[in-house]
Amino acid sequence: MFADLKHIQEQALKEIENAATVEELDKLKVKYLSRKGLLPEYFKNIKSVSTQERPQFGKALNKLKADITREADNKSRQLKKKPILACGDIDFTADGIKTRLGKEHIINQTIDNTCAIFEKMGFEVVEGPEVETEFNNFTGLNIPLNHPSRDAFDTFYLKTQERLLLRSHTSPVQIRVMKNCAPPLAVVVPGKVYRPDATDASHSFMFHQIEGFVVSTDIRFSDLKGVLDLFAKELFGPDIKMRFRPHFFPFTEPSAEVDISCIICSSKKGHCSVCGGKGWLEVLGAGMIHPNVFKHVGYPAGRYRGFAFGMGIERIAMLKCGIGDIRLFFENDLRFLEQF
Ligand code: DAH
Repeated sequence: MFADLKHIQEQALKEIENAATVEELDKLKVKYLSRKGLLPEYFKNIKSVSTQERPQFGKALNKLKADITREADNKSRQLKKKPILACGDIDFTADGIKTRLGKEHIINQTIDNTCAIFEKMGFEVVEGPEVETEFNNFTGLNIPLNHPSRDAFDTFYLKTQERLLLRSHTSPVQIRVMKNCAPPLAVVVPGKVYRPDATDASHSFMFHQIEGFVVSTDIRFSDLKGVLDLFAKELFGPDIKMRFRPHFFPFTEPSAEVDISCIICSSKKGHCSVCGGKGWLEVLGAGMIHPNVFKHVGYPAGRYRGFAFGMGIERIAMLKCGIGDIRLFFENDLRFLEQF
């Protein structure tokens, strides 16, 4: 009889465990626990157990009943719990929660595209701090402190003893890199620059530049022309022409301002609001690195030659995207930003 109970227990618990619906479970409860079920049958027959064994048998029978009842209740609760993904409970027609995807600012896109072009040519991207020393921003770049050429780089000074300032161009990173690394060097430097200009459609007190420079023993002006020509064609299209106009920058000699053919009127001249009918657009300054710059970074006289160039990112983005006002970049109006 005891063996029977063990067998019933095993069987009942297995069947309960395997029950897939509440109905199946109800049937099992009837089978084992109902008045005409298996367990009550044993209770009825308890008299046939010897008096010695009867108390123990009764106890085992009660325990079995309790076990089966408990397991059946647990299983019942489990089956009644609603599955989380019951299709019937989901309203597929209800409005979803839309996540708004952000995107990269047009200025950063322009920086990335520009840097990528130079990286393909073997340049490395380096960044420098926006708070600079007077030496790196001016003196090291052959801009003497009392020289009128400094007026072109009007500057925000910080109220510190060591005369720190917000860099007025990205050129000081030339000094930082050259002081720390020996040539050959091919570097581009994107970043923010600051000038105390009154804000209007073409001026902002903060804007972005990309500086580029190459230093080695045998660099020529023709290398500069080749690199910039390739850059302009990659960025603006294969039909773009370039011209170099003589200019003055303290840190390069000779120096040039570089124009590209107007991407709007394609040099046909006439009434063009972008180039004013001239057919050319100024995009950057460039030249051969001045020997005094090499001297300031401690390179031995005459050993190295190099070229450098610098351009305004906003200007490039404005030309490429047909944007007429620099202030639009910084107003954070999504109607503007989402267009790019
Ligand atoms: N630093 C110059 C500026 O802010 C731009 C520039 C011109 C950079 C000529 C250069 C260069 O490296 O060779 O206007």
